[in-house]
Amino acid sequence: MNKDVLSILVSEDEIDTITTRIAAEIDRDYADSGKKLLLLCILKGSVVFMGDLMKKITLPVEIDFMKVSSYGAGTASSGRVNILLDLHRQDLPDVDIVIVEDIIDSGRTLSYLIDYLKLKGANSVKTCTLLDKPERRDPSLVDFHPDYCGTIIPDEFVIGYGLDYDEQYRALPYVGILKPEVYTK
Ligand code: IMP
Ligand code: MG
Repeated sequence: MNKDVLSILVSEDEIDTITTRIAAEIDRDYADSGKKLLLLCILKGSVVFMGDLMKKITLPVEIDFMKVSSYGAGTASSGRVNILLDLHRQDLPDVDIVIVEDIIDSGRTLSYLIDYLKLKGANSVKTCTLLDKPERRDPSLVDFHPDYCGTIIPDEFVIGYGLDYDEQYRALPYVGILKPEVYTK
């Protein structure tokens, strides 16, 4: 285990079970949609999850990427959503989008993106997240529930399987809790 990891929260085996289940749910839900299915990966944290998930979906899928920032360098959400890399396509009325996220914290990123992509004309927009931290949500501000959810986790700062702390730890094959002394020193 990496020396900065306090404990493993979601193991490689658990992640494999999750991606298999969600891929089957997506296969079931979009089998008869008649539209193009687009998996929209939110860079950079979702790239590992997206790569594993897309391999297990048997329907034809297209992929694309957006990059948004809602976090600064540290562990606290800044509360603003900036689009750093946009989605450019002309056929959105023929497209069902599934946004693929690594983790939902305040819910601001995803609730903003849903409105944004609907405004751009997508036929439908659903959300898929590997991890959800519902304790971090204030329902009076953002009352958000993902359509597909890997697993609910406690309010801990986690890294690995795409998730970073200051751009480190993304390549770990599991999701782990970062030792607090790493970000408090
Ligand atoms: P939200 O808009 O507050 O839901 O923020 C979601 C984004 O915050 C995620 O896509 C991550 O980039 C980042 N984030 C939230 N919690 C964590 C964490 O525990 N570890 C790493 N990144 C996190
Ligand atoms: Mg992210």
